[in-house]
Amino acid sequence: MHNTPQQITVWDPFVRTFHWTLAVTYLLAWITAEDWPGLHEQLGYFVLVLLGLRLIWGLVGTRHARFTGFVRGPTEALGYLRSLAQGHPKDYLGHNPAGGWMAIGLIIVLLATAATGILANDGGELWEELHEGLANILLLLVVVHVLGVLASSLLHAENLIGAMLTGKKTRDNIDV
Ligand code: HEM
Ligand code: HEM
Repeated sequence: MHNTPQQITVWDPFVRTFHWTLAVTYLLAWITAEDWPGLHEQLGYFVLVLLGLRLIWGLVGTRHARFTGFVRGPTEALGYLRSLAQGHPKDYLGHNPAGGWMAIGLIIVLLATAATGILANDGGELWEELHEGLANILLLLVVVHVLGVLASSLLHAENLIGAMLTGKKTRDNIDV
């Protein structure tokens, strides 16, 4: 059978705008954290607005934006990792199970970082310590996230960064 490759829209405009706006706002929150407290706080609140919208979109949005569309159980996630280890990674159009769990991890730690930032703002050494600790965990996750994106782009022979910019992936057939 002969299949013609097709361009499929995977990431809708909301997801793409959310992603790059979040990445820039996060970067600015880091840059301002030490010396520009007023701006830092505004950026942190804006992160919460972005996350709030993403959570709603995760319930009512397009197919690959919905949490039910990419959050996979442990059996499927392990199956994916096994296929990856065997050098034939199973093909997912949206987030693969590892990418899906990274998205959830980033969202949760971002929420916790911003929330403890608000609490630290009212004073309290402990909240400030916690806020800074979470900000460091978040940085680690972001580094692993970007390395994961680069690694999967190589392993799946596909430009995931391009897909998050244009929304499109090319396929002639897919597993899931
Ligand atoms: C230059 C740096 C970055 C690059 C190249 C990048 C790239 C990507 C790509 C390609 C995806 C889709 C992954 C997939 O196909 O499964 C993605 C998803 C995601 N990224 Fe990034 N990212 C970057 C920085 C960040 C930062 C700084 C954050 C948060 C602080 C972040 C949070 C997320 C989240 C939450 C998702 C899930 C998207 C969704 O479903 O809404 N990213 N990123
Ligand atoms: C995702 C969002 C956020 C990130 C990544 C982040 C990151 C950071 C980091 C890395 C620091 C440590 C700066 C240092 O070394 O002194 C910090 C400090 C702080 N952040 Fe955030 N933050 C975020 C959101 C917020 C929010 C929403 C607020 C309050 C409304 C806030 C309030 C503070 C305060 C009060 C400090 C202590 C500043 C100081 O050292 O004097 N942050 N934040």
